[in-house]
Amino acid sequence: MNHLLKMLDLTTAEIDEILNLADQLKYEHKHGMAHPILEGKTLGMIFQKSSTRTRVSFEAGMYQLGGHALFLSSNDLQIGRGEPVEDTARVLSRYLDGIMIRTFEQKEVEDLARYGTIPVINGLTDFSHPCQVLADLMTIREFKGRLDGLRVGFIGDGNNMMNSLIVGCLKSKMHVAVACPEGYDPAKEVIDFAAQVGHFEMYRDPRGAARAADVVITDVWASMGQESEANARKIAFSGFQINEELMKYAKPDAMVLHCLPAHRGEEITARVFESHATEIFEEAENRLHAQKAVLVKLLGKEK
Ligand code: CP
Ligand code: NVA
Repeated sequence: MNHLLKMLDLTTAEIDEILNLADQLKYEHKHGMAHPILEGKTLGMIFQKSSTRTRVSFEAGMYQLGGHALFLSSNDLQIGRGEPVEDTARVLSRYLDGIMIRTFEQKEVEDLARYGTIPVINGLTDFSHPCQVLADLMTIREFKGRLDGLRVGFIGDGNNMMNSLIVGCLKSKMHVAVACPEGYDPAKEVIDFAAQVGHFEMYRDPRGAARAADVVITDVWASMGQESEANARKIAFSGFQINEELMKYAKPDAMVLHCLPAHRGEEITARVFESHATEIFEEAENRLHAQKAVLVKLLGKEK
């Protein structure tokens, strides 16, 4: 593993290794047993979109590992004025030990990895959000004790989260059912991957995805960059809310996850959100631990 660009690139064994290391780092952090594994290492964090969790958890994570993180808003970098990714990658590779980037196009992240010589971590693109899914898998395993054989139902938009969850959960030997309105399906390469693996169902009715689920997951209806579509999307997704009625179809002990930020009254009701707040905020915390594991794996290697 040289980069973390998308879940499709990871093997089941690599996902397992990251989750095991994440559990270990979480334990060590909480028991005052942390080591400065990344002492002297610097992570550059390029943001073309807003962030609370990703920015703060990466920055705090690098600090906790003995390293340093630089917040680089694309508004202030020359990349925002058209300097090519190829050049940015080659320059930053000479200063830094790793780059985390949050942007629109997946291609930009792939190009950064291709032209640079240091590890690149995808902090969210329109196509994928691998850091979030690693935290989600960690959280499910923490609450349920296993991943293998569990049923996950994702209800909502076929966006970066749905794309990454389908792949991450299938690679972790879970059963995945998704429900999205017509026109809002996950990416074709993700559906092709799922069709080849099996254990995957796609519904137009949210009840299909919620049925017998051990974990019910949703995300916003309009992602970053889709603000102008927000009203049209509210109409298209109106029947796709996670509410108490829908939760009756899931297992009685089903977890609910949301990557956050959440829009109460849209994709999830305040009641369902608050009754699952324990899981949802552990999921947010686990971003820190899962990403520290990724950082140790990628930046901790001897050169
Ligand atoms: N879930 C997530 O990635 O949150 P931020 O947009 O706040 O980073
Ligand atoms: N799908 C959302 C996730 C935010 C963490 C977005 O891309 O805005």
